[in-house]
Amino acid sequence: MTAPALELRQITKRFDAQTVVDRVDLIVPRNEVVALVGESGSGKTTTGLMALRLVEPTAGRILLGGQDITDLSQKAMKPFRRQTQVVFQDSYSSLDPMMTLGEIIAEPLAIHAIGTPSERRDQARHWLERVGLDGSYATRYPHELSGGQRQRISVARALILGASVLVADEPTSALDVSVKAQIVNLLQDLQGEMGLSMLFISHDLSVVRSLADQVVVMLRGRVVERGPTDRIFAAAHHPYTRALLDAVPVIDPKTRRRRTFLSAEELAAGTPRFRPHEIEPQPLVDTADPQLVALVGSHFVEAIVTEGR
Ligand SMILES: Nc1ncnc2c1ncn2[C@@H]1O[C@H](COP(=O)(O)OP(=O)(O)O)[C@@H](O)[C@H]1O
Ligand SMILES: [Mg+2]
Repeated sequence: MTAPALELRQITKRFDAQTVVDRVDLIVPRNEVVALVGESGSGKTTTGLMALRLVEPTAGRILLGGQDITDLSQKAMKPFRRQTQVVFQDSYSSLDPMMTLGEIIAEPLAIHAIGTPSERRDQARHWLERVGLDGSYATRYPHELSGGQRQRISVARALILGASVLVADEPTSALDVSVKAQIVNLLQDLQGEMGLSMLFISHDLSVVRSLADQVVVMLRGRVVERGPTDRIFAAAHHPYTRALLDAVPVIDPKTRRRRTFLSAEELAAGTPRFRPHEIEPQPLVDTADPQLVALVGSHFVEAIVTEGR
């Protein structure tokens, strides 16, 4: 069995006294897309950045291709930096306005001293075309582009070193609905062609449906549900996942319902309950706190396990 592309074990981040990511377990198998969803502030970005060691975890382990990279020095991290890349929502701020698009895309090659200047220019043109732009864009500048085109440039730049693990942090959330779909399609195509393993972060479940193999749902720093995408869409068990799903149908962008906030009472009332003998394997800890319980088909939900009611 080959090791997963990315594995987070009990990853935790505290800022000041606040725990913003709380003992999260997450696996991205090779050549799969795992979506990390949840409302703003639930800890998605922090989790994604810890996976690449762009934010240091307070506790827990990070494994890339089976190798524990949690404690590697920056120098020892260097080969892993080439394998892992990130694309953010706000690509405009990350594109240097003084550089041509060709220079921007080729910059990672220059930083790693790969190829001659003319080889790097050829690679940049090749990647422009690969992300659906004409090679002539190489001599243009970021301000000449639409939001969707800028995101294509960010994708090209992220992948030109041949990354195997991509963290895409809300790459479509600043885009119009039609452009959103184009960028999702582009990522889907490149993922298949390159065999990328991807952690796709989104607050919007509808965006992940066609792209993700698995969905992980975060709420206030905790994973409350995870499972294969079709299971999550067909049989979500957690009230918070159901609230996210209810917000999915987008009929009119102006009037669409977007109530994903649940009160503490609604959460408590909706959280699944099991008696200890009903679950397999038996719970390891005897606690009143909700814990992740295995349902059928690699589907897990945070539930309260108690003999009482
Ligand atoms: N550098 C930081 N310092 C202090 N608090 C932070 C920092 N980064 C994120 N947070 C806090 O951590 C929580 C989770 O943030 P984030 O990971 O960005 O969530 P999401 O991506 O799901 O919106 C938020 O309450 C945010 O304010
Ligand atoms: Mg975020």
